[in-house]
Amino acid sequence: MSGGSRDLSKLRSDFPILSKVRQRDGKPLIYLDNAATSLKPRQVVAAIKSYYENYCANVHRGVYSLSQEATNLYEDSRAEVARFIGCDSSELVFTKNTTDGINIVAHGLSWNTGDEVVLSVMEHHSNIVPWQIVAKRFGVKLRYIGITDSGELDLEELERVVTSRTRVVAICHVSNVLGTINDVKRIKKITHENGALMLVDAAQSVPHIPVNVKDLECDILAFSGHKALGPTGIGCLYVRKGVEEEIDPPFGGGEMINNVELSGYTLNDMPWRLEAGTPNIAGAIGLGAAISYLRKVGMDAIMEHERGLTDMALKLLGEVDRVEIYGPKDPSRSCGIVAFNLRGVTGDLVAALLDEFENVAVRSGFHCAQPLHMRLGIKGSVRISFYLYNTVEELMIFQKALERISREFGAGGSRTD
Ligand code: ALA
Repeated sequence: MSGGSRDLSKLRSDFPILSKVRQRDGKPLIYLDNAATSLKPRQVVAAIKSYYENYCANVHRGVYSLSQEATNLYEDSRAEVARFIGCDSSELVFTKNTTDGINIVAHGLSWNTGDEVVLSVMEHHSNIVPWQIVAKRFGVKLRYIGITDSGELDLEELERVVTSRTRVVAICHVSNVLGTINDVKRIKKITHENGALMLVDAAQSVPHIPVNVKDLECDILAFSGHKALGPTGIGCLYVRKGVEEEIDPPFGGGEMINNVELSGYTLNDMPWRLEAGTPNIAGAIGLGAAISYLRKVGMDAIMEHERGLTDMALKLLGEVDRVEIYGPKDPSRSCGIVAFNLRGVTGDLVAALLDEFENVAVRSGFHCAQPLHMRLGIKGSVRISFYLYNTVEELMIFQKALERISREFGAGGSRTD
């Protein structure tokens, strides 16, 4: 990647979908919806295929060789992911996705009426609704901190809101709409000074910037595999050693137990005690391949590449009439995501026309973050989000298509159909 366009085109050749062209007009896909899910390199697809073709057996349940091999591959993947975020394998639980991880924590903690959970208006629904459910069920109080007009968290408000009543502070590392990178270390300090647990929703950070849980000093961190080149249906939950004692497994079944009698059970060790039932073995193996791909490219290089694209996108968007951009305008404060609107054209129409004109895939609407849009006073937005395979040339094509939409469909444009 650091070697310039030749390296980038070699890297792009690992993603078969990028070399396909649309049948009707021969246009290649320009995929700018990486915050929703990333594309998958052939190495990940090959790892999944290889499991099904060569090692297809359950894990931790057989003494025969095939099961041992499957178990080794599954646990090797865990070790690879754990190394990637700087924790021990025993602290890394395989889940379905970020949402699943946060739900495991929300439903696994025991609550007293009056306990408080502190969130921000910047969270996506995965880090709001699980807490709303426990709030309704156990009388937990939710408190939200706001954002500044530049799209940063209001950390002074956090200082006021977090108190000895706070049980958990759950905040995203990177906003999935604004791209803002939050100061997790400062949030952690305020959280721990008040004796609360710090949960980091890292769905948009782990795939894009170097993340080390020991450096962040958080207690819990959740992310999804499918946004990090991995398959859907697999995610990770980091639980700092010792914190698991506060989490009663919300799901029971095989694997999470040591001993079962008709009168009760005893819990297995971490991480298996939070992995009830046969896990997503192929997914975990695919995620291991994805993480090893990211590690080889290098997270610093990926972060720099996306910063360059964000910088360029902000400039290109600024040149288009009627564009309003949300979130930080400084690419070093944000992470590969830019949300905007084109005045006079709905976000859904912009997204449909980008697809129609140039085969550009972007997301429109609330991006699973409706409260944030309400805070911004808008009914939705268009979001472009980048990854290691995106290019400046793709951004130029996107901008030309957007200019055309602004010209033909924007306020004063000739077409309204
Ligand atoms: N939370 C995902 C997104 O941002 C699905 O699009």
